[in-house]
Amino acid sequence: MKTIIEPFRIKVVEPIRITTPEERRRLLGDVGWNLFGLHSDDVIIDLLTDSGTSAMSAEQWSAVMRGDESYAGSPSFYRFESAVRELMPFRHIIPTHQGRAAEAILFSIVGGPGRLIPSNTHFDTTRGNIEATGATAVDLVIAEAHDPDSPHPFKGNIDLARLERLLRDQGERVPLVMLTVTNNAGGGQPVSLENIRAAAEVARRHGKPLIIDGCRFAENAWFIKCREPGQADRSVKDIVRDMFAVADGMTMSAKKDAFANIGGWLALNDDMLAAAARNRLILTEGFPTYGGLAGRDLDAIAVGLHEIVDEQYLRYRVRTNEYIGEKLTALGVPIVQPVGGHAVFVDARRFLPHIPPLEYPGQSLAVALYEHGGIRACEIGTVMFGQRPDGTEVAADMDLVRLAMPRRVYTQSHADYVVEVFEDIVRRRSELRGLRIVSQPAQLRHFTARFEPLQ
Ligand SMILES: Cc1ncc(COP(=O)(O)O)c(C=O)c1O
Repeated sequence: MKTIIEPFRIKVVEPIRITTPEERRRLLGDVGWNLFGLHSDDVIIDLLTDSGTSAMSAEQWSAVMRGDESYAGSPSFYRFESAVRELMPFRHIIPTHQGRAAEAILFSIVGGPGRLIPSNTHFDTTRGNIEATGATAVDLVIAEAHDPDSPHPFKGNIDLARLERLLRDQGERVPLVMLTVTNNAGGGQPVSLENIRAAAEVARRHGKPLIIDGCRFAENAWFIKCREPGQADRSVKDIVRDMFAVADGMTMSAKKDAFANIGGWLALNDDMLAAAARNRLILTEGFPTYGGLAGRDLDAIAVGLHEIVDEQYLRYRVRTNEYIGEKLTALGVPIVQPVGGHAVFVDARRFLPHIPPLEYPGQSLAVALYEHGGIRACEIGTVMFGQRPDGTEVAADMDLVRLAMPRRVYTQSHADYVVEVFEDIVRRRSELRGLRIVSQPAQLRHFTARFEPLQ
């Protein structure tokens, strides 16, 4: 069959409150045109993030009831540990309340002033946790990642020559090498198995461990199966095992590719490092068999990990984003190509050339999506990255709007609705205006800044 259907039936529903454009204009004024300020029940389609927003399955909800809340040695932990190990065979699996807690623990041990931590591209919490220790996060993604039109199948790959050079020239400052799969900051772009293996080989030759940020490991494995020569006939599960077999550890947010609403883990092979991490865990998260989670969360993750490697699901998952991407391209809306695993990124700077970067074309488009269709998306551009510590601002490299798809939540008609709202915005795009910031905090302004539309 040609149509790739949602491979699930809906058993529990959450009503969507349908707001009117007048109501949404009033709400935009109330929140200072910052979509983070909205109540989520005033949003029709919420594409702010794919993190923690998954719909859990009947099996996961059943597992929640099986959750055992013992402080130490809960069977929920052992089910969680064996589900992780079935895919990622690390010696030590340390649960945390979410991904950034795993990062904070790892970098509190290996970070510090003068240290350099290379990766393809660090996610912003990873970068933040590295920098909080005084270390420097170094992004070494391949050049094609910076070109929105490049059709490179693995735009998340790390530049091996630059990695080699860094390790050769400043190796004594580098405690480990990281790889983010898929590369969220770069648009959910995958890393090839060949690149993962080559990065591991370079790291090993220089005596450095390779740690994978595995948040979207299953989407990455699906892209490897579909795009990498020689991988088409292999199961996603085998590809996942190969991805992690060459690594020495991982950080994970279970809020992505484990279908959980909360959770994460740090996995390590090194006994000394793991002992230090567990000591830190007890200080900041909890006992090593629950690590900041309830037993029921650990059980939900264990089942989620079995479900996420289902190839019917992954085919539908990736196709949903491609479907929206193809329709937007047909409307003449420029997007980052090829479409990534968890989101479609719209190039707002190119879509709204009459709005200069310092008048925030990404924010203007995100506001228009909400005003005209009740869709909440996320600006990833000058609002997010343009603020400098001295209070001045610069244009970000790109002004993008991210449409992130929650897992198993929306149907094809929701996707068609998103495309229709874009059709409307394409017709009136010359009417869209920039914004100015009327108040902002000193850091991370995108969460709380207040705006005003320019006339
Ligand atoms: C690639 C990547 N790493 C780490 C994190 C942090 O995970 P968490 O939100 O669970 O702290 C995220 C979250 O979006 C992410 O996308």
